[in-house]
Amino acid sequence: MQNTEYLKAVPVTKNVYWVGAVDWSVTEFHGYKTERGSTYNAYLVLDDKITLIDTVKAPFKDHLLARIASVIDPEKIDYIISNHAEPDHSGSLPDIIKAVKPEKVFASIAGQKALDAHYRLEQPITPVKTGDEIHLGRNTVKFIETKMLHWPDSMISYLTDEKILFSQDAFGMHLAGSSLFADQYDPSILEWEAKKYFANILLLYAEKAKQLLAALPSYNLDIRMLAPDHGPIWRRPEDIAQILQWYGHWAAQPLHPKALVVFDTMWHSTEKMAYSIGDGLRDAGVTAELIQMSARDRSYVATEVIDAGAIVVGSPTLNNNIFPSMADVLTYLKGLRPQHRIGAAFGSYGWSGEAVKQLEEYLAAMNVERVGESIKQKYVPLASDLEKCYQLGRQVGEALLAKIAAESAR
Ligand code: FEO
Repeated sequence: MQNTEYLKAVPVTKNVYWVGAVDWSVTEFHGYKTERGSTYNAYLVLDDKITLIDTVKAPFKDHLLARIASVIDPEKIDYIISNHAEPDHSGSLPDIIKAVKPEKVFASIAGQKALDAHYRLEQPITPVKTGDEIHLGRNTVKFIETKMLHWPDSMISYLTDEKILFSQDAFGMHLAGSSLFADQYDPSILEWEAKKYFANILLLYAEKAKQLLAALPSYNLDIRMLAPDHGPIWRRPEDIAQILQWYGHWAAQPLHPKALVVFDTMWHSTEKMAYSIGDGLRDAGVTAELIQMSARDRSYVATEVIDAGAIVVGSPTLNNNIFPSMADVLTYLKGLRPQHRIGAAFGSYGWSGEAVKQLEEYLAAMNVERVGESIKQKYVPLASDLEKCYQLGRQVGEALLAKIAAESAR
């Protein structure tokens, strides 16, 4: 065991403690760039049945045990609830079960299967489903399955006396910090990181997020705290309302008068085209953001896509293909499936020129409605070529504004 005796639990309420881990140095989370680190939140509930809600990533097992031990002997834990089987929350579960020897471990039915497939646990898992409850003493835990937010096994747990909703991945963010509550952070950082989290983790499941938001009132939960498994806890009513409102907005994916020009360049020809397209977008009346992939990462682009109505993509041809950085970001975006966007493709080439066609195929796979003719530029664009790029930018911008007007007239 590491020397972790110095680690303490942090009170959430009088009888609930945060006993998770702060990962200050994680920069990569299955493809998601996490430049602000993350936390793996776990919660200890003191009641007649002492209960641990979620665990932490495997390397932080000793942090979890040390923080629990700062409050109680870990062997006094009766129940463990595993809201989500992904290893950032369950990786230490096998070792924690061995250390704690709990009476019961609860997970959803899909969670039971996933935990078994990951860890071949000797301890049987007690499956629970939406509407099931377990009684801890003062508190009852109510379970609600949230399939695909983020995995098929995902569920959330509501603690009745404390009025805390433990929401696992939902409403969280990758943000390492020394403070526990959202109101202790800069609101602009919270908004960016929550949006980034939604874009990179949950955008593909936006419909599921909408369904959860629509169904929440029917469960009649008095939510005084919203405690996710990553990032800070939302405790002020206005902060809880804010994160729920953000989720509703992002899940709806409304069109905004903003266009991304996502490109990379070899000898600056595609770059020049991107700048002219950006000028055309601007002059059409939309906000244009140029993102050169040698300067940005895929997670940044996914975050900006959330409120961009148009995605224009550009690449030179390299060895009969699009640039590797463009294949990277477009593969990633294709998986996240942003909806209702329009776009266009462009790029320079020397002799073969396959990149633009490949960009068109990515846009088609993303259901991006293509506007105008794609532009293929041999070698270096002249002023007249850049004028065509400018006009393509204008065309995309005008089409975006027309689409927004048509949607708002409905
Ligand atoms: Fe934080 Fe889907 O795991």
